[in-house]
Amino acid sequence: MYRSHTCGELRIEHVGQTVTLSGWVAKRRDFGSLSFIDLRDRYGITQLSFNEEYNKDLLEQARSLGREFVIQAIGKVTERSNKNTKIPTGEVEIIVEQLNILNISLTPPFTIEEDTDGGDDIRMQYRYLDLRRDNVRQNLVLRHQVAKAVRKYLDEKEFIEVETPVLIKSTPEGARDFVVPSRMNQGQFYALPQSPQTFKQLLMVSGFDRYYQIVKCFRDEDLRADRQPEFTQIDCEMSFVEQEDILNLFEGMVQHLFKEVKGLDIGTLPRMTFDDAMRLYGNDKPDIRFGMQFQYITELTKGKNFPVFEAAETVLAICATGCATYTRKQLDELTDWVKRPQIGAKGLVYVFCNADGTYKSSVDKFYSPDDLKQWATQCNAQPGDLLLLLCGDTKAVQKQMSELRLEMGLRMGLRKKDEFKALWVIDFPLLEFDDENQRWHAMHHPFTSPKPEDIPMLDTDPGAIRANAYDMVINGVEVGGGSIRIFNKELQAKMFKILGFTEEDARYQFGFLMNAFEYGAPPHGGLAFGFDRLCSLFGGADGIRDFIAFPKNNQGRDVMIDAPSVIDDKQLKELGVNVNS
Ligand code: AMO
Repeated sequence: MYRSHTCGELRIEHVGQTVTLSGWVAKRRDFGSLSFIDLRDRYGITQLSFNEEYNKDLLEQARSLGREFVIQAIGKVTERSNKNTKIPTGEVEIIVEQLNILNISLTPPFTIEEDTDGGDDIRMQYRYLDLRRDNVRQNLVLRHQVAKAVRKYLDEKEFIEVETPVLIKSTPEGARDFVVPSRMNQGQFYALPQSPQTFKQLLMVSGFDRYYQIVKCFRDEDLRADRQPEFTQIDCEMSFVEQEDILNLFEGMVQHLFKEVKGLDIGTLPRMTFDDAMRLYGNDKPDIRFGMQFQYITELTKGKNFPVFEAAETVLAICATGCATYTRKQLDELTDWVKRPQIGAKGLVYVFCNADGTYKSSVDKFYSPDDLKQWATQCNAQPGDLLLLLCGDTKAVQKQMSELRLEMGLRMGLRKKDEFKALWVIDFPLLEFDDENQRWHAMHHPFTSPKPEDIPMLDTDPGAIRANAYDMVINGVEVGGGSIRIFNKELQAKMFKILGFTEEDARYQFGFLMNAFEYGAPPHGGLAFGFDRLCSLFGGADGIRDFIAFPKNNQGRDVMIDAPSVIDDKQLKELGVNVNS
C-alpha cells in the first residue's frame, strides 16, 4: 500500500495514528539537530519531521532528498508545537519511522509554488511541473466542477450529449480552418470543425430535440488572451423553440452555474439590443459592472468655432465620477494613451466640474462656462466629476470611447473581479458589409434566421435586417452566442445567394444540409458557450490559458511537445502532399 491517507487529510484527531503518505518533496528545511520536509500531493501538504531525539537514523537520509523527489513516509501523527494556521494540516506533523524513495527528480527549472520564479515560457515548456502548482491545479478543478454543473443542468432539462465528428468538411464560423490531408483520398483534405454547427442542425432534423456537447473546436485565427486555436464549447441546440425559449433556458443554466460553482445569485439577465449596446457603450459586449454611458453632445458643441468639433460627425462624452482631482500629468498621460495607434484618437478634451461649481476645460478658448455647464448637465455630471470628450466619425469615435471607458473603469477600480454582471445582447444585424471585398458577410453564420418581420428587406436593404441572434456577455466578455436557424430550404438558398455563393458553391459546401432540409427540418435554434472563457471568468483570470491543461502559446505553438513540427518527406509523400523540392 503506497498510502493510507493523502497529504491534505490529517488533522488533530488523527494524532497517535500510524499513517503512510506518498508524495513529492516540496521543501526541506534543515536546522542543527532537526529537519522538516513538506510533502505535497494533489490534496495538500503535510509536514514530515526528523530529529536527533526520535528518528536520528533517518535524519541523514532525509537530508539527502532533493526537491520533487517522490517518497513514501510511514510514521506517527503528532501534534505540532509550532502550528501553521495557513494550511488545514498545519496542526500536525508526522514523526517518520520509515522513509522510501520511490523516485528521484532533477531539480525543477522553477519553484513549484504559488508565486513561482518561472516565467511564462519555461512554465509552458514544463507544463507538467507547472500543473503541480496549487493555483494552476485549482483552475482545472474549477473547470471540472463547471463541466459537472453544466451536465447536471442540461441532463435535468432532457438534453442528450452526442459526439460529432472531428474530421469533417469546413464549417463557416468565419475563421480559417485547420486542415488534415487524407492518405486514402490523395489530394483531398478534411477540415477540423470550427464548431459542430451543421451537425447539431442535422441532429435536429433527426429528431433529437435537445442536444448538447462539451466539445473541442478549432480555429486558425490570430490569438489573444481569450482565444486559443483549440478551445472548448458547450454546444447546444433545441427544436420547436423560439428565441425566448432559448434565452430563458440558458439564462437558467448560467444562474445555475454561478450558484453551484461560486455560490452566487446573479439574478435576471438584462437584455440590450445591439443598437443600444453600440450607442451607449460603443461595444457589442458591454461591461456593465459600471455606468459611464456615452453622451452624444455633438449639437451642443457646434457653432463656437472650435474647428475640431466643427468638423466632427460626432462628439462623445463620458463622465468620470469624482475624477476632477486628476492632475495635469494624469490627463497628459491619458491623452497620450488615447493617441496610441491601438486606440487612434487625435486628441482628448476634458472638462473639470470643480467642487466649487465652476468649470475648467482644455477648450476654454472656445467655450464659455455656460457652454460647459450645458455639457455637464447633459452628462448628469456633479461637482467633483471629470468629463472626457472624443470626436470623429461616429463608428470610429464609438470604438475609441469604448476603449477609453474600459480603461477609466480599470483605473477607477470599477471592474472588480469578484463582481459579475451578465446580460443578453440581442437583435444583432444579420449581415455586415465587407468593404474590402465589396460583399455581405453573415454576422453570426449563414444559417441564422432573419427576424420574420425584416425578411422583406432582404432584397431592398440587407444591411438593415436584424437577426434572431443573441450573445451572452459577462463582465465585458462574450461568453456565448447563438441564433434561431433558418429551417426553410428556399430561405437558406436565398441567404447563400446574398452571401455571394453561387448555387454550385452552396451545393458543394452545404448540399448535405440543404438535402436534409428537404426531409422535414423542425424549427430550431441554439447557442454555444465558450467553456474556457466561462471557467476563466469564474476563476477571476484575464486569460483562458491557465484553465486549459496543455494550452498553446500566442504563436499557436505547444512549446512542451514542440508542435507544430515538420514531418518527413516519406510521410508527406504517403499523404499525397506535394513535397517542396
Ligand atoms: P461563436 O463563433 O460565437 O458561435 O462561438 C461561441 C463561443 O465560443 C467562444 N469562442 C472561443 N473561445 C476561445 N477561443 C476561441 N478562439 C474562441 N472562438 C469562440 C466564445 C463564443 O461566444 N456555432 C456557433 C454557435 C451557435 O450558433 O449555436 C458558434 O460557434 O465564447
